[in-house]
Amino acid sequence: MRLWGGRFTGETDTRVVDFTRSIEVDRALALDDLAGSAAHVRGLGLAGLLDEAEVAALIAGLGALRAEVEAGTLAWDPGLEDVHMNLEAALVARIGPLGGKLHTGRSRNDQVATDLRLWARRTIDGLDAAVLGMERALVGLGEREGDAILPGMTHIQPAQPVLFAHHLLAYVEMLERDRDRLADCRRRANVSPLGSGALAGAGYPLDRESTARELGFDGVTANSLDSVSDRDFVAELLFAVALGMVHLSRLAEEITWWSNPRFGFVRAADAFTTGSSMMPNKKNPDPAELVRGRAARVVGSLAGFLALLKGLPLAYQRDLQEDKPPLFEACATFGASLGVMAGMVETLAVDREAMRRAASEGFTTATAVADALVRLGVPFREAHHVVGRLVAAAEAEGCALTELGDGVIVAALAESRDSAVMGLAGDPELPAALREAATLDAALVSCDVIGGTAPRRVSAALVAARARLDGVGG
Ligand code: ARG
Repeated sequence: MRLWGGRFTGETDTRVVDFTRSIEVDRALALDDLAGSAAHVRGLGLAGLLDEAEVAALIAGLGALRAEVEAGTLAWDPGLEDVHMNLEAALVARIGPLGGKLHTGRSRNDQVATDLRLWARRTIDGLDAAVLGMERALVGLGEREGDAILPGMTHIQPAQPVLFAHHLLAYVEMLERDRDRLADCRRRANVSPLGSGALAGAGYPLDRESTARELGFDGVTANSLDSVSDRDFVAELLFAVALGMVHLSRLAEEITWWSNPRFGFVRAADAFTTGSSMMPNKKNPDPAELVRGRAARVVGSLAGFLALLKGLPLAYQRDLQEDKPPLFEACATFGASLGVMAGMVETLAVDREAMRRAASEGFTTATAVADALVRLGVPFREAHHVVGRLVAAAEAEGCALTELGDGVIVAALAESRDSAVMGLAGDPELPAALREAATLDAALVSCDVIGGTAPRRVSAALVAARARLDGVGG
């Protein structure tokens, strides 16, 4: 069925109807579409194109449709292509030919651009709240397990000890940047294209700024061609969401490793694990694995969308209809992933002993021992060499740096030709001081800079994060 089409004599081929239809996807824009239509109707009234009674009747009709959409009772007609045509037809069916005035000075091109910006705005607000929820889960776990010590890694090899809370707070930083990116995207999305018409601007003296205000936009777009073809905000939102998924995926990857009994650092709660159909022993962190897997799909949505845009001349092209499936799917995936990861993190059981044991392996405090020598006047390069000898000696003896005997330490120092080291060699307190510097706790305390893992810095960071989270709603 054609809603319009004086030019046409024949019916649309059913294959074309099926192929071009988007109602299954864009019906998610129904409430945004109705809000945009209501603002447009008021704008037509202000411009003198509708009288007061007409405005009132149209607004009432749109309000009734809104109630039907909210109640889920509106029957969508797949023959009517998209959400815009469905709602216009439904309006005409309910209030009669007056409904035919709704589309005055409007095209589906500026209409869908408006709807999608409204959708993006409210979706961003929902995602922001979900990101905050994830941050709260991480900070909560950090507060609960404040003293737990992880073997910090570089190259997936034991590097230096760090507080587990410090590690969790690193993800809070990433998520805060995600929030910032979402807010930035929201700012650029929150301008009104309504009144741009099909591409050249509406042919009536519509007050675009007043319509924009009514819809809560911060302003209006400046160029009608750009208004109907700009989907930068979609690309930006997809990027913000894709990077957010990448962050969650990195954490998901860590949780899967930490859950492996070889590490045994954490155990996911039963509610966040699944079993195997064959192996009775299995308890798998599947939600984390699926977050990692879905991150791949979201990255694909971003790449696919950029490819979609790159060949499009001005202005609107039907290709743009394909913006919605990747955007909707990516945002839904990010929201769901944040929810499941927050639940998993909140309920994670932590084995501090296993973490501490692992942090003590691999001579992770060697840097702290070298730093202790530097504080006694040894040049860092020499200190690095001397401690390297101590590590080799401990490895040969199969012991930790804290377990090295005085004799081994003195012998390693005695190999050095450095005057500062030679000056220290006779100090009877030195071996004990170096063993003390090699303890996990001393190593942690020594990293006492802004952003470092010293316990007092991490406690302050947790307090600051908690205060910030308490200060924002949601
Ligand atoms: N369903 C279309 C979309 O999502 C609406 C705009 C269609 N405009 C047109 N001239 N065919 O992009």
